Amino acid sequence: MQTRTECGCCGSKDIVKVIDLGKMPFANSYIKKEDLGKPEPYYPLTVGFCRDCYSLQILDLIEPSDIFIDYAYLTSASQPMIDHFQKMARDLADRFIKSHLDLVVEVGGNDGTLLEAIKDRCMILNIDPSKKAGELSRAKGVPTITDFFNRQFVESNPYWKGKAKLVIGNNVFAHIPDLRDAVQGVSDILRDDGVFVLENHWLGDLIQGGGFDQIYHEHCFYHSLTSLKSLLESVGLYIFEVEMIPFHGESMRIYVAKNQVVLPMNYSVDELLKREYDLGLDREDTFIRLGRRIKQCGEICSSLIEGLQGRGRKIVGYGAPAKGNILLNYCHLPLDYLTDTTPAKQGTYSPGMHIPIYHPDKLKYDPPDYVLLLAWNYADAIIEKERDLLDSGVVFLTPRMEARAV
Ligand code: TMP
Repeated sequence: MQTRTECGCCGSKDIVKVIDLGKMPFANSYIKKEDLGKPEPYYPLTVGFCRDCYSLQILDLIEPSDIFIDYAYLTSASQPMIDHFQKMARDLADRFIKSHLDLVVEVGGNDGTLLEAIKDRCMILNIDPSKKAGELSRAKGVPTITDFFNRQFVESNPYWKGKAKLVIGNNVFAHIPDLRDAVQGVSDILRDDGVFVLENHWLGDLIQGGGFDQIYHEHCFYHSLTSLKSLLESVGLYIFEVEMIPFHGESMRIYVAKNQVVLPMNYSVDELLKREYDLGLDREDTFIRLGRRIKQCGEICSSLIEGLQGRGRKIVGYGAPAKGNILLNYCHLPLDYLTDTTPAKQGTYSPGMHIPIYHPDKLKYDPPDYVLLLAWNYADAIIEKERDLLDSGVVFLTPRMEARAV
């Protein structure tokens, strides 16, 4: 693991540590039963703030190939995710795709969930490093290259230069340590009239109470529009529109173009920049206060669960997402078991806390008293689906930080 000394967006060396979550295992490294006795690596998890371009980023850098080639995460494991991205694909195609020959490239398209929805309307290409997700993507009829997307990829595949009418990157441009290089790669594959759409969790949500459990090694960046604007402009791209999306708490969908004349900027950009300024997203002290709030919230969560368990209550986790593993480890929550819809996670143990993960059916034949909603970003859909459990008296707990000054 390397420690970042330069900002991954602008290259500045004026980057300071603002949050420290201690040592953590990799949040997506689920453990097989036969490996339970083996030593498990723990790594520092600290967050830095760039005083020059205001980007917030992990300082402890992992090698992407250690994580993303054998990657357990599948978009299609969560029905709300499938619905969300398929709708997004159709909306973007309605707006930007004019011909069957237009090319749509998705960077980090995982198992092809999004592109499958528009495969009959245009040319499509998924570029994603995960072997398993790539196999599933191809099986859906989505042409897929199993590789990391960066400038080197574009240089080795020059055919794609200047070809894409639309480039999509959902929750992926937070995962790439050399972000400036990747964004330059996007610019290289875009046509002059092309549009780049990226969706990502919004830093303002984190500040206003969104889960701090979203801070983990894979998420190298916590984006604001302010920091992304300066990054994109540094490679000749400009943001012409932004939409707030109620997903993963609150996400932003950013529309980016190469050609300022074709697509003039709309008021939504200035509006969000102003909101971010009011929230102090360009100030170091905002994140130092966030670090203090995280510590307090962690203590509250630990004592709540400890108190309930002390009174003999059975508490299980709903979903075994990476962020859940951060919450479980940071607060040290020894839950009875976790359930998850991802087949590859079932039968394994959570990183760090080693809690067994089962198929969601387990909730029916071994019901708990309390469910900690680790996949809290899908709360509405899950509550809807689990009406019977709620009606039987099981209590659902949702981890969210309170928004208040410390
Ligand atoms: P994500 O928040 O990173 O998308 O991960 C959500 C995890 O929660 C993923 O492993 C699938 C799991 N999950 C369930 O187990 N049940 C559900 O109903 C949903 C929506 C997700």
